[in-house]
Amino acid sequence: MRRAGRSKAEVEKETGSTIGAFDASFEVYPGEIFVIIGLSGSGKSTILRAVNGLNVPAEGSVYLDDEHITSMPSKQLREVRRRKIGMVFQHFGLLPNRTVLDNIAFGLEIQGMPAQERRKKAEETLPAVGLEGQGNKLITELSGGMKQRVGLARALATEQEILLMDEPFSALDPLIRRDMQNLFLSIQGEAQRTVVFVTHDLDEALTLGHRVAIMKDGEIVQLGTPEHILREPANEYVERFVEDVDYAKVRTAESVMVKPRQVAYLSEGPTVVLRRMRQYGLSHIFVVDEERRLVGVCEAEEVARLAERDERELRGAVDDSAHKVERRTPLREVLPLFVEDGDTPVAVVGEGERLEGVVVRGALIAGLTTHAEAQEEGGEALPEGGETSQNGERVRVRRVGS
Ligand SMILES: Nc1ncnc2c1ncn2[C@@H]1O[C@H](COP(=O)(O)OP(=O)(O)O)[C@@H](O)[C@H]1O
Ligand SMILES: [Mg+2]
Repeated sequence: MRRAGRSKAEVEKETGSTIGAFDASFEVYPGEIFVIIGLSGSGKSTILRAVNGLNVPAEGSVYLDDEHITSMPSKQLREVRRRKIGMVFQHFGLLPNRTVLDNIAFGLEIQGMPAQERRKKAEETLPAVGLEGQGNKLITELSGGMKQRVGLARALATEQEILLMDEPFSALDPLIRRDMQNLFLSIQGEAQRTVVFVTHDLDEALTLGHRVAIMKDGEIVQLGTPEHILREPANEYVERFVEDVDYAKVRTAESVMVKPRQVAYLSEGPTVVLRRMRQYGLSHIFVVDEERRLVGVCEAEEVARLAERDERELRGAVDDSAHKVERRTPLREVLPLFVEDGDTPVAVVGEGERLEGVVVRGALIAGLTTHAEAQEEGGEALPEGGETSQNGERVRVRRVGS
């Protein structure tokens, strides 16, 4: 009936059956964070549960590589869930009377890992979630934020390559939530799991997602990168959805730039520059001349290539077509530069082409979605000294080439 053009509501009225999801096709790539966003009741959980076979679609198929999830015998399906596809819910289902370690190890227990081994694995995850030395505490002794960390650690301790997350941070207050998102991103940056992440929060979707699917009434109304969704809303619905983030029109590069603390001088050699990049975890570095005038940008891989060949000069690695803007350039004009070039940062130059700031992708997206007032309060939004590299690098870790 839906295919014949009747609306979801009409189908419901006439048949008494709900369309959970309809015509919602997508692919998820290895190592990607794929976000499904939509209002409550739009079908996000329905889809997520179809991915691991908890929901059997009336029509259509789910494939994991070449395996057909939808027609798998239940015993085999349980095995796939145990070994390959983990699921995390909003309340994480922690066991209150068990210790932190036992809770983290719980997923491994289900996977059949021997006690000693899973305890060791659980212990290894503690530092990553900031719970070092807290392993023997009971869940009831923890604050809300700490509990959440335990839940995240549990999900991350398992070796399942695919993680389905259904609004895991939705119940948290905004500050803790931001923390958890960052924590999740930094851990994910190393683990490179394939994640399907459900949320109803646009900021969260745009911050975490490599690609985002927007759902309405059971259907995907747009699927694309955060940049594409912001720049080219597919229809009026999406436009209204992203309306709140349209600060791009009034905000400028200055409000999201950070001080370029680490630069390379054109006179320096590749080995020295490469070392600096490694030290600060930079994938790109801006190159300036003695007067700090922008010459271009270098990618770590290119610098490494020169260093390997024992080249003396950095010049060969310098891309002089680096994107540059001015302090006053509106974010609306900065955004497209990232659409073209992915994660390459954009230089902010002042008088005489002097390098004054750097806009990194993560900060730009965050700048588009955080409220303008918060930024205005701080006046000059430049972070002080030591924070820069942290802020500057608070970019999502992405796989090379993705
Ligand atoms: N078990 C169920 N039985 C009947 N209808 C359901 C059931 N689960 C979800 N629905 C309906 O399916 C639609 C999609 O729900 P859901 O996937 O839970 O949305 P979301 O996760 O986006 O909030 C809604 O209209 C909801 O009322
Ligand atoms: Mg749901």
